Amino acid sequence: MEKILIVDDEKSILELLIVVFEKEGYAVKATPSGTKAMEWLEKQDFDLVITDIKLPEISGLDILKYLQEKRPDIPIVMITAYGSIKQAVEALKAGAADYVVKPFDIEELKIIAAQALEKRRLREENIILKRELKEKYNLMNLIGKSRRMQEIYNLIEKIAGTESTVLITGESGTGKEVAARTIHALSPRKDNRFVSVNCGALPESLLESELFGHVKGAFTGAAADKKGLFEAAEQGTLFLDEIGEMSAYTQVKLLRSLQDKRIRRVGGINEIAVDVRIIAASNQDLKESIKEGKFREDLFYRLNVISMRMPPLRERREDIPLLVSHFLERHSRRMNRLKKRMTPKVMKILEAYPWPGNVRELENMMERTVAIEERQTVTEDCLPEELLHPQKAAEVDVLPDSGFDLKNHLNDISIHYIEEARRRCQGNMKKAASLLGLSYRSLRHLIEKYNLKIPREEAER
Ligand SMILES: Nc1ncnc2c1ncn2[C@@H]1O[C@H](COP(=O)(O)OP(=O)(O)OP(=O)(O)O)[C@@H](O)[C@H]1O
Ligand SMILES: [Mg+2]
Repeated sequence: MEKILIVDDEKSILELLIVVFEKEGYAVKATPSGTKAMEWLEKQDFDLVITDIKLPEISGLDILKYLQEKRPDIPIVMITAYGSIKQAVEALKAGAADYVVKPFDIEELKIIAAQALEKRRLREENIILKRELKEKYNLMNLIGKSRRMQEIYNLIEKIAGTESTVLITGESGTGKEVAARTIHALSPRKDNRFVSVNCGALPESLLESELFGHVKGAFTGAAADKKGLFEAAEQGTLFLDEIGEMSAYTQVKLLRSLQDKRIRRVGGINEIAVDVRIIAASNQDLKESIKEGKFREDLFYRLNVISMRMPPLRERREDIPLLVSHFLERHSRRMNRLKKRMTPKVMKILEAYPWPGNVRELENMMERTVAIEERQTVTEDCLPEELLHPQKAAEVDVLPDSGFDLKNHLNDISIHYIEEARRRCQGNMKKAASLLGLSYRSLRHLIEKYNLKIPREEAER
């Protein structure tokens, strides 16, 4: 039931309004005193206030002023005497929802009240709706409203509560670690540690003692017993980043630990029981590594109980504006600056760029923009060269001194042109194929080979 507060010092009017609005189905509280009304407003919640402007002591305009400051969400309708319309207009300017002039038509006041209440309801629903949408657009620190990200959120929510090992794959900068942290934060293990270790950053022997710990004297320099990360992550989550870089020997040791749920410190004899959830990540294709004999197949299947592929940013371009806004806000706040705006043209360029470094690259660019750019509105001339002419990014005419991976490079070039053609043809695959001198089937084949997902709109064409 909606609550209305009515204030009028003219007794006959007050009584009439009580009867009329109660009959309309509202909960009515009424008083001839502005002071009393203010007291109630401080303690209770109302959906609408109807007040005479002219009251002894505290006037209707004072009530209006109070509401504008404290409760701008509560609409207020003013009743004014004939001949003081000027005041009513002032009240409207100051934020009143509407007014009636005495002697007023009671039907008119009913309609005005109903409209004010309806407006308030709509506004509230809108706020709730926006909040719900916002919740769907991010899960903890993962941002994105695209279908691909929604799928990731759903999967994370489903698996967070389980004990299963997860293997997260995806290119560099796609958010593998954020996803792993999110799984941990939503899991029953959330109050214990999330321990992250980069398996590619340490030499073999060091990684082993990092993971499993060592006993005093196990090797030169092992002056005391030391706990490893497995033990540090007890009852928590251990994130093994760049698992594809792990040496063959450590892979064996890891596999055994996963199977037995026990570890042995380097140089130690005793087995120590561990209760750790493992999340592994790799930006390499581990199946390829298995074929090349670099990664153990049995370990792969142990880790890959649940597999999650983080989509590259170019496969979810519709999230770019959301991410841009998120990072601008985050870094502006951090650097104590006003949040900058991008012109629509700049946003178009950002949306079209292939982002080989994915979200990390986008975030770095936004951070740089906040730090360096003086102007409040960011225009094209603030953007780095590779964004304005993205085709140059794939162009290499000089072989770098350090050499490069030709196969990968050629793949990158193919991907670049396929993406460009698809964009230019707005997703029409037949047109894109002809632009590339390919048959429709070969283009489909390449898209599958490079794992370039077909956007839904395109698939439905
Ligand atoms: N969906 C996302 N929403 C918000 N921020 C993201 C998202 N994905 C990635 N980021 C941000 O991008 C950066 C890179 O993310 P993260 O370190 O998780 O990537 P990664 O896949 O582990 O990369 P690498 O393989 O290079 O280690 C981080 O700063 C992270 O906060
Ligand atoms: Mg990472």
